Amino acid sequence: MAARADLATIIDQQEEIFVRRQPESARLAGRAVHSLAGGVVSSWQISRPQPVWLSHGKGSKLYDVDGNEYVDLHGGYGVSLAGHGHPAVVAAIRAQAERGTHFAQPTQAALAVASDLQRRFGLPLWRFANSGTEATMDAVHLMRAITGRDLIIKVEGCYHGHHDSVQVSVCPEDDADDRGPADAPHSVPASTGIPRAITDLTLVVGFNDLDAVRRRLDDNPGRVAGMILEPIMMNAGIILPDPGYLASLKDLLHSRGALLAFDEVKTGLTAGPGGATGVTGVTPDIICLAKAIGGGVAVAAIGGTAAVMEHVANGDYEMVGTFNGNPLAMAACRAMLTQVATPEAYERIEKLRLRAVEGLEHEIARSGLDARVVSVGAKGCVVFSATPVRNFRDFLAVRDAYSHAHWLFQHNGGVFLPPWGKIEQWLMSVQHDEADIDRFVGNFATFAAAVRP
Ligand SMILES: Cc1ncc(COP(=O)(O)O)c(C=O)c1O
Repeated sequence: MAARADLATIIDQQEEIFVRRQPESARLAGRAVHSLAGGVVSSWQISRPQPVWLSHGKGSKLYDVDGNEYVDLHGGYGVSLAGHGHPAVVAAIRAQAERGTHFAQPTQAALAVASDLQRRFGLPLWRFANSGTEATMDAVHLMRAITGRDLIIKVEGCYHGHHDSVQVSVCPEDDADDRGPADAPHSVPASTGIPRAITDLTLVVGFNDLDAVRRRLDDNPGRVAGMILEPIMMNAGIILPDPGYLASLKDLLHSRGALLAFDEVKTGLTAGPGGATGVTGVTPDIICLAKAIGGGVAVAAIGGTAAVMEHVANGDYEMVGTFNGNPLAMAACRAMLTQVATPEAYERIEKLRLRAVEGLEHEIARSGLDARVVSVGAKGCVVFSATPVRNFRDFLAVRDAYSHAHWLFQHNGGVFLPPWGKIEQWLMSVQHDEADIDRFVGNFATFAAAVRP
């Protein structure tokens, strides 16, 4: 019997297959470097072995410029809960396009969207923006404006967009990063171009570490405006909050006059109809939504308690933006909330989630791989770790080579997962079916058989 290849060799082989299947992508990538900086439209599209250029999407499928078909579990980095070309979203966008795509004045669709979000997330007052970054930026501004304090707390390993205050300790994985101790992480700039003075205003704690938050508050009495976190951490695979963690966090922050903001940019609508707020039962002071709520159109929403939003209503904090509540985005959002993300759709997704989890767990057990499946609602991932991951430091130990190899096997087998290995998760859409999930599990079985110990 031939000797089994090692993981590095398997990755090389799969990358070769990947590149061979996509000559037109390679050609376009070569051309693009002369007009698009780095040959892509966002830096996270520069993925190994080469960016995949897409032609179109339909239903649960994506098609690349070489004509390859994929089951789309990438979901446009967590956006495509509706799938592609969903009739309700298409009809809403078409109808609005014919009636005007921009006014910078309120429309009735905005009212309908706000009422729906009110019902789903349990916060009374809403505003809109255009990206997750804008939503979390407004949340941070609001917490500072309301409390008159400058410091904020964020969680090590959480990504909240690319504004200065949260570009801190996003993924400090290089040995050169001065991460500091796990129970008192240092504030590590996540990008160039951010003044140290701003980074120093962001204090960092580990996920699920309530005592660390207490210490930060004790060490800075009367100086912390609030804390922003993903209630279910989604930029480190998926990390669930310990029972009681979020409720205790809210009480602790409030006891010190500080606020709690949930970044539900990834979890909103995808973790369940009321996002992670609905799943965990803890309602914060501020919720940030984006990605899936627009059915593929750029939009974000910021919800707040009456006390928080009073500062917006009375002009104390000016929450502004030319495109905020844009009618095209609001029309897409309304269709998404009323016709796509319905109770029936969530029931269907739950069945598919269970099918995926059972299939993957069966293959993990059969192959003896050190791996576990973590999933919530339409989102999930395989974490290549023998032990549960509770925070970013645990996540650092997860073997990324397995995640990358898995991504390649899926891709070459016609399933598009998000690149960036262990960081990302799958997203199912309301248009996925059992055959899509079976293709995904089938590819996992092929991968597991190839890399098993
Ligand atoms: C949790 C979270 N918050 C905020 C953002 C930023 O959103 P956007 O890319 O729309 O600015 C992201 C983007 O991936 C995210 O995952």
